Amino acid sequence: MARSALLNVMVQAAMKAGRSLSRDFGEVQNLQVSMKGPGDYVSQADRKAEDIIFAELSRARPGYGFLMEERGAVSGDDDQHRWIVDPLDGTTNFLHGIPLFSVSVALERQGQIVAGVVYNPAMDELYTAERGGGAFVNDRRLRVAARTKLTDTVIGCGVPHLGRGHHGNFLIELRNVMGEVSGIRRMGSAALDLAYVAAGRMDGFWETGLSAWDIAAGILLIREAGGFVSDVGGGQTMLESGAVVAGNEAIHRALLKTVTKPLKA
Ligand code: IPD
Ligand code: CA
Ligand code: CA
Repeated sequence: MARSALLNVMVQAAMKAGRSLSRDFGEVQNLQVSMKGPGDYVSQADRKAEDIIFAELSRARPGYGFLMEERGAVSGDDDQHRWIVDPLDGTTNFLHGIPLFSVSVALERQGQIVAGVVYNPAMDELYTAERGGGAFVNDRRLRVAARTKLTDTVIGCGVPHLGRGHHGNFLIELRNVMGEVSGIRRMGSAALDLAYVAAGRMDGFWETGLSAWDIAAGILLIREAGGFVSDVGGGQTMLESGAVVAGNEAIHRALLKTVTKPLKA
């Protein structure tokens, strides 16, 4: 499949980091880990993957800025472009030997996400999208699922845990959603969750408390696969608020309404 020079650069960086993660995944028991907060481990593998992406992208596009999970914001000479990167999304899965983790790389140009790559090295699935050019998994074009009734859907979400997220709010959201849908999934990599919605494997997704690097690439994948993404208020503050609701047009609308339904006394 012919890819643009930009996507090639991003794919090369994501796959190189992915190969490094794969090697470390095989030896996950031997990894030295440091605690960043309850349930939120940062491993050597994570840092190594980030270093690879930083080096690759800096070499290919000198001057672009970065927003990376470990490094934070790194400004460049070119203030029009910024890479938004999570070198390892799904760290808890990774540390537990569950092969659901990903590398997420997005490019923002003048505040707009213009390209996104999500790579799951364990399954060798490469999701790519460029603004206006469609979304793909490996060489296959992606399209969001066509189901329009919430009752037929499988919906992904994130679940707060020890030290993370607003447990009370989530329980209200879950109560609202679980009575309306066919199934709920918690995969543990928000970037992959969004890629799965783009691929039509899940019909929708919602989560709050995320960071820009978890969702920047996935948001573009969904849009380029014909889907809709917003924050929980229906606005476009996802990267700032860390809240996302996604699906095809009908499911996005229905899920948004359901998630935010006030709890009846
Ligand atoms: C996490 C994953 C997870 C989501 C968490 C994120 P990390 O990212 O995306 O699915 O529920 O909120 O922090 O820590 O594995 O990079
Ligand atoms: Ca993440
Ligand atoms: Ca991460």
